[in-house]
Amino acid sequence: MERSFVMIKPDGVQRGLIGEIISRFERKGLKMLAARFECLPEDRVAAQYNEHLEKPFFPGLKTYIMSGPVFLMVWEGKNAVGIIRSLVGATNPVEAVPGTIRGDFAVDIGRNVIHASDSPASGEREIAIHFGSDDLVAYSGIA
Ligand code: CMP
Repeated sequence: MERSFVMIKPDGVQRGLIGEIISRFERKGLKMLAARFECLPEDRVAAQYNEHLEKPFFPGLKTYIMSGPVFLMVWEGKNAVGIIRSLVGATNPVEAVPGTIRGDFAVDIGRNVIHASDSPASGEREIAIHFGSDDLVAYSGIA
């Protein structure tokens, strides 16, 4: 069973897309293990995006992610990382296919509504940045 970290970014929260996004994941058959609504501190934004620290867009990305509350989640399921990435769509909304979250709700790569882990290893790394093992709730579900 795979786990993925998912973050609804400040633009997704402000636009009232939390329920829509959770609903898409639930209907697909994935299982939520943890969720938290908060404003991220700078150190966790840097840890989350450590591969982008030197990129020219990082200062703007950091300001945007810290501009309001985000909704953090852990999802589990068979092939959860790949399935969630296919539901989320391409990073650049110009390339995101209609029917995906970014394809339906985003137009700007800098305001692309949602982040999801790009590999199972990234999933475990990102989950550990934001959640402790006690935060992950074990229960029986369909996934
Ligand atoms: P995300 O999936 O959260 O992973 C890294 C984020 O960096 C990405 O979504 C975008 O929001 C952002 N990003 C990537 N490339 C660019 C870019 N060229 N300009 C602005 N933001 C970018």
